[in-house]
Amino acid sequence: MEFVTLNDGNKMPVAGYGVFQMATDDSTAQAVADAIKAGYRLIDTAQAYDNEVAVGKGIKMSGVDREELFVTSKLWLSDYEYDAAMAQIDKALSDMGLEYFDLYLLHQPVGNVYSAWRALEDAQKAGKIKSIGVSNFHNDRLVDLGLFNDVKPAVNQIEINPFFQRESELSVMADEGVVAEAWAPFAEGKNGIFTNETLVAIAQAHNKTVGQVILRWLTQRGIVALAKTVRPERMRENIDIFDFKLTDEEMKLVAELNTNTSQFFDHRDPEMVKYLAARH
Ligand SMILES: NC(=O)c1ccc[n+]([C@@H]2O[C@H](COP(=O)([O-])OP(=O)(O)OC[C@H]3O[C@@H](n4cnc5c(N)ncnc54)[C@H](OP(=O)(O)O)[C@@H]3O)[C@@H](O)[C@H]2O)c1
Repeated sequence: MEFVTLNDGNKMPVAGYGVFQMATDDSTAQAVADAIKAGYRLIDTAQAYDNEVAVGKGIKMSGVDREELFVTSKLWLSDYEYDAAMAQIDKALSDMGLEYFDLYLLHQPVGNVYSAWRALEDAQKAGKIKSIGVSNFHNDRLVDLGLFNDVKPAVNQIEINPFFQRESELSVMADEGVVAEAWAPFAEGKNGIFTNETLVAIAQAHNKTVGQVILRWLTQRGIVALAKTVRPERMRENIDIFDFKLTDEEMKLVAELNTNTSQFFDHRDPEMVKYLAARH
């Protein structure tokens, strides 16, 4: 496993296992235990995924020491008021059977972000969270949050995949010392990503799969890459990305696949803001 160093000095694995759209029951606990067995050390869940209990159970089942793992969860905007945020951090820790989170994120840039961020800062001071960060923040919101608070976000978790490469966001994050973490690196399979000709040709050249090429394209540039799968054979495949390197030419070919368009939705669309706000 390779690691990146965050702006607070903590180290974070560059490849992680995500559990979005996975069940709330023991099948997710088993999948998390399988992922850790396959070699994953970074696990990414969220209050909004409704599976923190199952993820905590899977972590216990794995038998791997807590200090070896890097556990992330995220606060939903229904709890962005200071007291509610503090209470939810305690609840999430208790639900997961953990003493601390390695990373805790504001899931969306919507609602009372400042109050929630100050709760994260205080929970970090209290030792409940090692590193604090955000998700889905556009450049202006990210810089603003860092400027008007004591602690700058360590991480911004955003959609990054070959069809939506986020060059502008990556450049601002590099300037600000914020590590980029990619969600939906496979665009959840949309737009024929696994059969894309360019990606298939690069995969064949390295005797790897398209999934492995995408994850390598991210991690090779220091971007933390999450990937979700419920299948143990794909967990092993998706973590087996550290024995090859894409050439500069191959990196350029992948860069050409950028359409600069989200494969999902725009967090700045007013209708999306209303949708997120209603999702309490
Ligand atoms: N912060 C946010 O707002 C946000 C939003 C979305 C996601 N995330 C995080 O990012 C993680 C990853 O994103 P995601 O789950 O949306 O999508 P993803 O990882 O891009 O794609 C997951 C899909 O790809 C399939 N897949 C996985 N590995 C594969 C492989 N090697 N070959 C072929 N198909 C493969 C999976 O199917 P099977 O399961 O059947 O294998 C699943 O349908 C999430 O789980 C979550 O932790 C965060």
